Amino acid sequence: MSRFWSDIVHTLTPYVPGEQPALAHPIKLNTNENPYPPSPRVVEAVRRELGEDGATLRKYPDPTARALREAVAKHHGLRVEQVFAGNGSDEVLAHAFAALLKHEAPILFPDITYSFYPVYAQLYGVEYRAIALNADFAIDVDDYRAPNGGVLLPNPNAPTGRALPLSEIEVLLKQNPDVPVIIDEAYVDFGAESAVNLIDTYPNLLVVQTTSKARSLAGMRVGFAFGDAALIEGLTRVKDSFNSYPLDRLAQAAALASYEDQAWFEESCAKVVESRDRMTAQLRALGFDVVPSAANFVFAKHPAHDAATLAAALKAKEIFVRHFKLPRIDQHLRISIGTPAECDALVAALKELIG
Ligand SMILES: Cc1ncc(COP(=O)(O)O)c(C=O)c1O
Repeated sequence: MSRFWSDIVHTLTPYVPGEQPALAHPIKLNTNENPYPPSPRVVEAVRRELGEDGATLRKYPDPTARALREAVAKHHGLRVEQVFAGNGSDEVLAHAFAALLKHEAPILFPDITYSFYPVYAQLYGVEYRAIALNADFAIDVDDYRAPNGGVLLPNPNAPTGRALPLSEIEVLLKQNPDVPVIIDEAYVDFGAESAVNLIDTYPNLLVVQTTSKARSLAGMRVGFAFGDAALIEGLTRVKDSFNSYPLDRLAQAAALASYEDQAWFEESCAKVVESRDRMTAQLRALGFDVVPSAANFVFAKHPAHDAATLAAALKAKEIFVRHFKLPRIDQHLRISIGTPAECDALVAALKELIG
């Protein structure tokens, strides 16, 4: 606390990211990172951008990330004006709050969802109503009919991993034609249907994606928004009032190269999905209730074992999972999918802990 703080700083409850332990070989299943490295083409592109002596770094990067946006637009069958790039999808979401979600009526998002949403709402003074997921943690789009200033939800949802079919996203869009509907597709590549193809039909749809999960680039901080050119212009106006150069040279080169290696991307997603399905079965065999996941993590609870205690006991074995001390989910663990060896170590440790 400081008397030099702006008033708003006193009111903030900042987001707490998952722990990045300072250990030599932790089994890190707590922040939904990809267990596989990015494509070798990404590594080559970063080296190329850096050059022999790093002289390229003297110069600012392209403030518009034009080459990257063009490549990603082509990948999704969009025009470059329909693509926004930011420093991680967190930044893209933050700009969406400022550019698109601040209206008279409160925005709607699920009660159990990405815990950064209420943080941005507080920072930008956006009122919100949290809409309860149903008992099995599914989103019922009928619950999003109340007058609102916008709708925001991840598909698949986090931390539950549950996906909504595209037909339900379309119902949501039809129900809310006069407000922005933002679909956060951070985990879409692991088993949900993207809403990108609906963009030309619904001018109020903004789809947010990231290279952090399926493209193994969490350390590069590159996220996107796709939508009608007018929505993208709104985001760009906020970006250029905040930081003109959110993506550095290496990040732009790395992200672009990842879109040039579709085979690597597909193989990496397929391996994660296979491990997820195997881990789901193994956890169920240990007595866990596991929410059906379309993401690169599972959300599980054991009827006889306290989740916080399990998380602490796993941590003592240098296995990190995520536990949220929040209403309705304080008995759940969110476990990211690691390599087969990491998943096996997690299952073996849980077997030992729960007997
Ligand atoms: C639902 C969801 N959206 C967005 C993000 C942000 O990802 P990034 O800023 O790395 O793109 C995350 C990260 O965990 C997430 O879970």
